[in-house]
Amino acid sequence: MDALFCHCRPGFEPELAAELAERAALLGHAGYPKAARGSGHVEFISDEAAQLARRLPFADLVFARQKLLRLADLRGLDPKDRISPILAALEANVPVRDGPPFGELWVEHPDSDEARPLSGLARSFGNALRPALRKAGWLSPRDDARRSRLHVVFLAGDHAVLGRSHPGDSAPWPQGIPRLRMHADAPSRSALKLEEALMTLLDDDERDARLRDGLRGADLGAAPGGWTWVMLRHGLHMTAIDNGPMRTHLFDTGRLEHLRVDGFRWQPETPLDWMVCDMVEQPRRVAARMADWLREGWCAQTVFNLKLPMKKRWDETRQCLDLFQAQAGRPLVVRARQLYHDREEITVYARPA
Ligand SMILES: C[S@@+](CC[C@H](N)C(=O)[O-])C[C@H]1O[C@@H](n2cnc3c(N)ncnc32)[C@H](O)[C@@H]1O
Repeated sequence: MDALFCHCRPGFEPELAAELAERAALLGHAGYPKAARGSGHVEFISDEAAQLARRLPFADLVFARQKLLRLADLRGLDPKDRISPILAALEANVPVRDGPPFGELWVEHPDSDEARPLSGLARSFGNALRPALRKAGWLSPRDDARRSRLHVVFLAGDHAVLGRSHPGDSAPWPQGIPRLRMHADAPSRSALKLEEALMTLLDDDERDARLRDGLRGADLGAAPGGWTWVMLRHGLHMTAIDNGPMRTHLFDTGRLEHLRVDGFRWQPETPLDWMVCDMVEQPRRVAARMADWLREGWCAQTVFNLKLPMKKRWDETRQCLDLFQAQAGRPLVVRARQLYHDREEITVYARPA
């Protein structure tokens, strides 16, 4: 049977499984999810996996860090020769038309406690497999990021999943994890969340056009200032809303105003380009307030965080996103994702369509 294979945050397998099952059912595809808690991945088994992979864009998935079409599930691999079964599986499953079918090889493992010790194997095996794939004509002579990627995902030393992803429909980082470095000036680690959100939820053109010097934004729940710092670095003038103190060096920019008021009540006097929000509150309350902002036209776009409850997190996610769209009262572009730097939460980018 074919399958979709998705990486996710360990512990969120039930959410991703529920999301895949619901989305596949809505698209009319039969199948079922297979997930072990803490494993950092979910497989969705379906005879129609290839079709489902095409109809379920990676960008629409909230809890998947990466989406692959599984080509083979290789068990009982012999440590002395793991390469031959991979070449045989490719022979059996991948048609060759003109030229090598793959532009890159990524050898990975899920981001789980169990699989993390496999990183050394993944690295050394990648170095051995790459030339063998090139020699056999499966991989282009030089890395070519425009073509399909071949993934080998080690689940154990003797068990690997072979998969394919397309650059336009997948995360551009191994395991779907962007490696961002914490900047010494950043007031909090939360800055990484907003940096990742802007990198992941907007494309290059959108970032160029929508994050420019001189634009104006507000940050609801801003203290100590990680998100504000990110927006200031993009050249924006910011109003930070929080009863708590902001890091003083942020004021050196001359582009920051701090108001100690309630983020659920404050509204700008004139429309802003951006509103970002990281208030720790009930997700439905946040979603409803974010909808007010878009309905009333108080901002041209927003990035906000929804803190998820301990249980039924997929249900809560769907309900919050539905409520948000319904209460905004106008068609929206909405992109939602559990980012690598998100914990028990998801991040949403939205603007009027
Ligand atoms: C997770 S922290 C924000 C961290 C911030 N994004 C950063 O990067 O440094 C949440 C903040 O929301 C603030 N907050 C919670 N409820 C609020 C409300 N009703 N109005 C304004 N701020 C609120 C808290 O004071 C807290 O500073």
